[in-house]
Amino acid sequence: MTQTAVQSSAPAPVVPASAGATEPYRTIKVEPVTLRIGAEISGIDLTQPIGEAQKIELRRALAEHLVIFFRDQPISHEQHMALGQAFSELIVHPGAPGIENHPLIVAIHADADSKYVAGESWHSDLSCNAEPPMGSILRLHTVPECGGDTLFASMYAAYEALSDRMKTYLEGLTAEHDANHVYHALYKDYETVYPRNNHPVVITHPVTGRKALFVNSSYTTRINELSDEESRAILAYLYEHCANPNFHVRFRWRPNSIAFWDNRCTHHLAVWDYFPQVRSGFRITLKGERPVF
Ligand code: SIN
Repeated sequence: MTQTAVQSSAPAPVVPASAGATEPYRTIKVEPVTLRIGAEISGIDLTQPIGEAQKIELRRALAEHLVIFFRDQPISHEQHMALGQAFSELIVHPGAPGIENHPLIVAIHADADSKYVAGESWHSDLSCNAEPPMGSILRLHTVPECGGDTLFASMYAAYEALSDRMKTYLEGLTAEHDANHVYHALYKDYETVYPRNNHPVVITHPVTGRKALFVNSSYTTRINELSDEESRAILAYLYEHCANPNFHVRFRWRPNSIAFWDNRCTHHLAVWDYFPQVRSGFRITLKGERPVF
């Protein structure tokens, strides 16, 4: 009698971002918030020039932990930009105007008059760009009494937890990422043309060489090689899969906290649960490169 092979439906175990022995850090203190994503950095004063050895260790901490958090850093706009420039050039956000005299800095602000807040659904920043940002750095100076957390999700962990069958299915697929529906709905300026580009559904991170899922519910409109129906179903499955809290870290802000996320391997979502209170700060966007399979 032949036996029918039974496939386990359990997801593959997820490899933590910080698994394996690593060298100790010498110029900063790095405390993981979860094993897969997020670390709090201390022992550094970002109101002072950042030394070369610290820059190297900050780059390493970002590569290992995907999003790094700092506390009590009352940085100026210049110091904010200097932190970003230690990693990459800064870019102008095509959908959010810069603040006065600082075109590279965007205000993130919500109060009792707000009708929406930036980043209320899962996304990676500007995945619609031909060269999506490598990262973003957000500092909040004013935070609500409670609430207003930001959630970050590891797209390495999401990819690694897929079945081998699904990984094979996604191999070589590309998806369209379009900002027009996002910003037309927001600003009602249907004349402006915002970026639209195709990228691999699974990318290889240029620094770590790890594979990450690269579709998100804000910008990704379709998987090009599939019928509309199949594309919708696969994207819906992937978004549900990425919503698994095992892939997430949740950041509780305090005044002058900073979050610096690697946009190539994370999604994030800003929770607007503090209306009508004020939450306010500044964000910069760091130039990235064209994603590759
Ligand atoms: C964003 O960049 O999407 C906003 C994040 C936040 O306000 O926490």
